[in-house]
Amino acid sequence: MGGDRLEAEGRTLSNRLIVVSNRVTQITGRRAVSAGGLAVGIQAALEEVGGLWFGWSGRITEKPGDAAQVTTRGKITYALTDLSEEDHAGYYAGFANRTLWPLFHYRIDLASFEREWYETYRRVNERFADQLVPLLREGDVIWVHDYHLIPLAAELRARGVKARIGFFLHIPFPAQQIFVTMPWHRQLATDLCAYDLVGFQTEVDLLQFWDYVTRELEGEVQPDGRVRIDGRSLRAVACPIGVDHEEMATLAASADAQRQTERLQLTLRGRKLVFGVDRLDYTKGIPERLRAFEELLRSYEEHRGRVVLMQISAPSREDVPEYHDLRRDVERLSGHINGRFADTDWMPIRYINRAYTRRVLAGFYRMSRIGFVTPLRDGLNLVAEEFVAAQIQEDPGVLVLSRFAGAAGHMKGALIVNPYDTQAVAGALHQALVMSVEERRDRHAAMLEAVRANDLTGWRRKLVRMLLSGE
Ligand code: G6P
Repeated sequence: MGGDRLEAEGRTLSNRLIVVSNRVTQITGRRAVSAGGLAVGIQAALEEVGGLWFGWSGRITEKPGDAAQVTTRGKITYALTDLSEEDHAGYYAGFANRTLWPLFHYRIDLASFEREWYETYRRVNERFADQLVPLLREGDVIWVHDYHLIPLAAELRARGVKARIGFFLHIPFPAQQIFVTMPWHRQLATDLCAYDLVGFQTEVDLLQFWDYVTRELEGEVQPDGRVRIDGRSLRAVACPIGVDHEEMATLAASADAQRQTERLQLTLRGRKLVFGVDRLDYTKGIPERLRAFEELLRSYEEHRGRVVLMQISAPSREDVPEYHDLRRDVERLSGHINGRFADTDWMPIRYINRAYTRRVLAGFYRMSRIGFVTPLRDGLNLVAEEFVAAQIQEDPGVLVLSRFAGAAGHMKGALIVNPYDTQAVAGALHQALVMSVEERRDRHAAMLEAVRANDLTGWRRKLVRMLLSGE
């Protein structure tokens, strides 16, 4: 690992970047949407500066070892740890994905509060800390990611780690009234305050965090935005993650992408493509999206036979029951809509339940008339950003984007919709389908500027710089 360096503001610092996340991807160039925004973003950031990436190996074993397995690939050293069946069930499938995930996405109705899961979650965080400490050295800066690992800084501090430790939450931070429904909210929020720097995707998340710490923890938000709590202070900021827009444009133009898009183009026979791609997750609003497309076909007859919705839903968290129910609902609904509107030579919806590489997706984005991104709640949504980056500027597609995706805050050129309003979403689809090329160009130019201003390298540099300087 010697020689790894972080640049910040043009200076080169000899600190090593230690990234910790539950999910780790190791397959360069073949990252699929099933990996989610976090893994895609972190991998690109680490490929640039090098460093150590610590996390779950993705394996469940009977007796996980006491030390992480360390391997180096290119600039990244991976230190990976297995989970036991019991830890996986309580920490990952349980507390992380059946308590925190639904809760932080405003789905109290789907959140289960099981003390045993919570205890396992804490125990796994302790194990992560135990395994990370021996790998650390002087000058390291540690950057922890996402809701699986909120207690990690407190655990590292308890083991004497003095390094600066930052945290980034890739999902929304809920309103105080939602958060307090969880019996362990106080302990978890106190743990979050053990970091030196906490980053959120949007201003709204940051405001909600400030609101929570002042109301529930008697913290104090100072005029410069720092939070004082229990005699110490931390910095909390809003800093949305971005995409590597140049990489996306290059991928979209690659031979691989072109081969796949030509195949698809042949089957469309001149019809316009509306494109949705997500992990198959209830936060993504897939049934609502299908219903809005059905409404388009019902109330704007001119599009019948002339438009195809391709919805790619990559399987995700299949060990969590709510995801099974969703899969069944989406299959039923797409079958129903196809049955209602299809003709002998036209099938309105192509529903695909598998993951594709980003290279292939980049080509699909580029050939789509509409990027259909309508989550019910989403930290940011990198698909929206990638869609914009992959377009051809002279003849770009239109982004139909939910107001509940963090990206809506800066994607001013999108048609912003409320995904619960079926008629309005159908209206936006119609507007996008008949939009002049001039308007499409103007809207796209505004979004591309935002995507460029908000790119992945800038995100990583800004946060690491803040973490190092302690400003
Ligand atoms: C979201 C989360 C990530 C997570 C990803 C994929 O993007 O913010 O932390 O890794 O979904 O989910 P999974 O459960 O497969 O890691």
